[in-house]
Order: sequence, then C-alpha cells, then structure tokens
Amino acid sequence: MTPRNAPDGAAADARPRVVLGVGAGIAAYKVCELLRRLTESGHAVTVVPTEDALRFVGEPTWAALSGRPVATRVWDGVAEVPHVRIGQTADLVFVAPATADLLARAAHGLADDLLTNTLLTARCPVVFAPAMHTEMWEHPATQANVATLRARGAIVVDPASGRLTGRDTGPGRLPDPAELFEVARRVLARGAVGRDLAGRHVVVSAGGTREALDPVRFLGNRSSGLQGYALARTAVARGARVTLVAANVALPDPAGAAVVPVESAARLRDAVLAAAEDADAVVMAAAVADFRPAEYQDAKIKKVEGAGPAPIELVQNPDVLAELGARPHAGQVVVGFAAETHDVLEHGRAKLARKGCDLLVVNQVGADLTFGRPDNAAVVLGADGSAVEIPRGPKEDLADVVWDLVAARLAPPTPGERDVPGRTGP
Ligand code: CTP
Repeated sequence: MTPRNAPDGAAADARPRVVLGVGAGIAAYKVCELLRRLTESGHAVTVVPTEDALRFVGEPTWAALSGRPVATRVWDGVAEVPHVRIGQTADLVFVAPATADLLARAAHGLADDLLTNTLLTARCPVVFAPAMHTEMWEHPATQANVATLRARGAIVVDPASGRLTGRDTGPGRLPDPAELFEVARRVLARGAVGRDLAGRHVVVSAGGTREALDPVRFLGNRSSGLQGYALARTAVARGARVTLVAANVALPDPAGAAVVPVESAARLRDAVLAAAEDADAVVMAAAVADFRPAEYQDAKIKKVEGAGPAPIELVQNPDVLAELGARPHAGQVVVGFAAETHDVLEHGRAKLARKGCDLLVVNQVGADLTFGRPDNAAVVLGADGSAVEIPRGPKEDLADVVWDLVAARLAPPTPGERDVPGRTGP
C-alpha cells in the first residue's frame, strides 16, 4: 500500500501508516500487544493516547514499542501542525480501547485533545474497539453514539463477552489483540471501499456438529471451522454485524462477532434460524451431520464380552440450509457450502436447486484438501446460472469473494432504517 500524503521533506516511507488511538481504559495494556503485531508486520504506527490513557500505560512503553515519539496534546510540536497532519496522512486510524467517553467525544465531533482532532481530520478508514463495563456499553447514550459513528462510516467492533475488570462478566471486554490485529489488517487491505456490509446483519455457521451417542462419545466430522471463521472475520472488517454459530470450533473468537457455541445439528438449527430472522445474509459454512443416533444413552455404553459391537441406528437430521432456502426470504441472501469428492459441478448444480439457496460454494474435498488447511479453492454457483471460480488461496480471500457476491445481491439499504440505536450490537 502506498502511503497517503507523505509530509514535505520526509523520506518516502512505503509502510502503511497506522494511528493507534488509545483511550483511558484498563484494556490499554492489551493494546501493547496489538501495537507490537502492527510494527512487527511492517506498519508505521503513531500512538496517540489520551492524557488519561497514560495513567494505565505510560508514554515510554508506547514510544519504545512504536519506535516513534508519542504526543497526546495539540500543543506538542506545534510547528508540525500535528493535530491536522497525523490524521491527514494516516491509512488507518484504530482506536483501542475506545471508552464510553471517547466514543461520546468522537460522535459529537469534539476536538479537545490530539486524538479527537486526529479523528476529525482522518479521511481514511477508522475503527473503534470499545471496552468498558457492560452497563456503560449498553447505556442508550453509548449505543446512540456507536450508531452515529457507524452511520458516519466508522467500523465499531462489538466488544467480546466475558470477565471484566472486577467481579462482573458480560459484554464489554476488548477482543483478543491478535484478532484486533486481523481486523486492522483486513480493513487496511480493503482501503476506503471496504465497508460495503455496513448496517447489515449476517449469520455464519462454522465448524462441524457432534451427534452424541452417550455422555462420552459422538459422531462427528473433520471440519475445523477455519472457513466459517474467515467469513466472520472478513464480514466484520467490511462493517457487518456478525452472528457466528460455531459448532465445536477450537479457534479464538473473531473480534466483533457474536459467537453462539453449539454442539449438535439440532442446536445449530435453533441458533441459525433465530439469528436469521433479521439477517440480510446467512452463510452455512458448517458441516452439519445428516444423521444422528436414534437414541442417546444416558450412561456410557459398555462393551459386553463376546457379544461384538452393537449396531448404531441413525435417524435423519433436519436440513437447515434447505429450510432457510424454502422459507420466503425475499431480501435475504442464503449461501450454502458443498463438499464434493467428484463430479463437483454437476453435484453442485443439483444441490443448489435442491436446497433452494441463492449461492452455493462448491469445493472439492479429499483427505488432504480443505480440512484444517489455511487455503481453499472453490467455484461459486448462483441460482441465476452464474459460476465464479476462485483459485486456491487463503480462506479469507475466498471469504471476500463470497461477500462480494452476497453484497451484489443485497437490496440497497433503506435510508434511516439502518444504523439506528438499538440495532447496533448483536
Ligand atoms: N446442511 C444443513 N443441514 C444439514 C446438512 C447440510 O444445513 N443437515 C448444509 C451445510 O451447512 C452446507 C450444505 O448444507 O451448507 C451442503 O451440505 P452437504 O452435506 O454437502 O449436502 P447434502 O445435502 O448432505 O448432500 P450429500 O451428502 O448428498 O452430498
């Protein structure tokens, strides 16, 4: 990426320029890790903490990790007009942790310190990663500010749920720094065109269901969840509100996605259908078991000496994708995945018609293809007869093509209907 407007006389620095705005929250310590990841992966990072943020992590830490001087006040280095220059020359402004106060000041256009000045002068993508106590996050004032910022084009990454500072738990945690780094990387890669899913709610299912036989055994499959998680991550970076229904996935939660963990096909169905009610798109990347044991044994099944293995009777599971496709879903794009070992296109076309979906991502699977690998190749078939081939590449690239095809099929948002308070968090 070429840097924007290198300042006069400055040696051209080809590294993407990131402004890391740090708010006054305890989670500032986690942002040191985000900064380290950004600098080590070749980004030129200017840290702009608020004055109170320095109570949590001091200026020497930010200066040492970024390799750059740190300023908080518009009165530092005035000759360089930093309150304008830092924002103007950035490729990305990433604010973490974004406190309730900082979100409020940003939403109202205040410019009382260097960071809020920078936010007003930035013309690049801006990402806020809020972190605060649940009550503050859920307060209508904060939600209204978040809605305002989203409506103006910022990406606000919903906080994760879990243990907060003190004894309380709930939504408000800063997501994992490694996952915030992924958001920064994806937003930078897409540049200013990237927010095409803003105001949309998308549902992604990922992983593989487990159908219990007894308290210790299950019938399962080899899906890792990597493709579904890549879909969730890329959708967050494109501005969507994401519900990720995760079946037995051992991966970190993508920043900004509301993760609903499930185990069986029946629970996955409940979670997907509930989330699909107000969704603009549903992508069924999960490997859902077609069958489950007819009976669940409450106690562990014991082997009986000399009797040989007992047969396992199976019954059919509901087909969630077919159900989604069969419901009236005008305005909602339904996407299925198909794993085929042979006659990929022929089986794909038949499956697309059978399941009534709008798009079907067909990949060829085998022992060493797709499962657990970071890359994938596919052809995406459309109900309109289209076929888009995606060459082998990272699962995130495939995810972005899927979202391109979904975005092209979404009806334009009704002005005023999106980005309103109350529709902002999962
Ligand atoms: N799927 C689903 N519910 C099921 C089974 C599958 O929603 N009970 C979804 C998967 O999430 C995927 C798509 O259907 O998006 C294709 O799944 P696949 O197992 O390949 O299709 P089947 O209809 O089972 O076809 P076959 O086993 O004959 O290949």
